[in-house]
Amino acid sequence: MASIHAIRFHKTGGPDVLQWDEIPVAEPGPGQARVRHAAVGLNFIDVYHRSGLYPVPALPSGIGMEGAGVVEAIGSGVTDIKVGDRVAYASGPVGSYAQSRVIAADRLVALPKEIDERTGAAMMLQGLTVWYLLHRTYALKKGDTILVHAAAGGIGLIMCQWAKALGATIIGTVSSEEKAKLAKQNGCDHTIIYTKDDFVAKVKEITGGAGVPVVYDSIGKDTWPRSLDCLRPLGLMVSFGNASGPVPPVDLGILSAKGSLFVTRPTLVTYTAKRADLVAGATALFDMVRAGKVKIQVNQTYALKDAAAAHRDLEARKTTGSTVLLP
Ligand SMILES: NC(=O)c1ccc[n+]([C@@H]2O[C@H](COP(=O)([O-])OP(=O)(O)OC[C@H]3O[C@@H](n4cnc5c(N)ncnc54)[C@H](OP(=O)(O)O)[C@@H]3O)[C@@H](O)[C@H]2O)c1
Repeated sequence: MASIHAIRFHKTGGPDVLQWDEIPVAEPGPGQARVRHAAVGLNFIDVYHRSGLYPVPALPSGIGMEGAGVVEAIGSGVTDIKVGDRVAYASGPVGSYAQSRVIAADRLVALPKEIDERTGAAMMLQGLTVWYLLHRTYALKKGDTILVHAAAGGIGLIMCQWAKALGATIIGTVSSEEKAKLAKQNGCDHTIIYTKDDFVAKVKEITGGAGVPVVYDSIGKDTWPRSLDCLRPLGLMVSFGNASGPVPPVDLGILSAKGSLFVTRPTLVTYTAKRADLVAGATALFDMVRAGKVKIQVNQTYALKDAAAAHRDLEARKTTGSTVLLP
């Protein structure tokens, strides 16, 4: 029986649980396709799956939600794509850290000819997330000032560029001078080194005491309460990640006390559940990239079998921009 290699974990834990396993090649069932990966995207959600923060359905488990490559087989009933098409995706179930994988064909989008597979694998999950956060969770308008945490990260660099293209002023937090420089080069107007400076005081200073209408917070536990203090009355707190750990249970009264605030805890899964939304998001993302308004920066690459090293670096805050794993 033909086999491939894939990164899997047999128990949850630190990066060392990631193993380079030999597994049989899967055959696509009805409505499915098999993609031979040219590149696989690394995302923080992979850390949550590996650590157990987001439980996977069963162990041993594959890992990874994003990839790009070429369709090498299709199941019955698949009409939109054909063998040989260049495609990319950002979707569950976990299992993209593999030389090839089977996935529902309606989760795949065709890559435009101007976008290579490495870029495709680097941009789908982070880029679609930025699309829904800026266009759907909150409809960003020209002249808005926003707070973006981890502004030099994968999501961060795409969000700074996209928000800039929409005419916003961006305040970004980062952990070092080098990251501040990188965020600035990507459209961030004001950077705050939040490991050193009080970001609430700085946001108040930059906004003349008014606060911002929306905070994009992917850090979670370490920033949650102070992020609320950066909002103007009726502002929207978008808590969309847990890089420092999950936000502890919340006393809703805090929202009235701080100015009748709104809070949402969104996920890409909901915003792309319908095929039409996935296509709308991918089209918007590809347009931004083709127009040169968003440049996808693949600042780290690792061999897929070295995924544990990539996880260590991501968790140690050593990476900037996007990262891909090469099968
Ligand atoms: N809800 C959704 O739909 C969705 C979709 C995609 C991603 N996300 C979330 O968005 C966030 C960014 O994802 P990404 O893949 O682009 O990762 P990333 O931003 O490239 O990496 C995470 C960054 O978070 C910062 N950070 C702050 N405290 C940290 C800590 N204790 N440990 C590790 N990092 C810490 C670091 O930047 P500094 O060194 O500058 O602090 C680090 O580089 C993640 O929280 C992810 O879960 C959510």
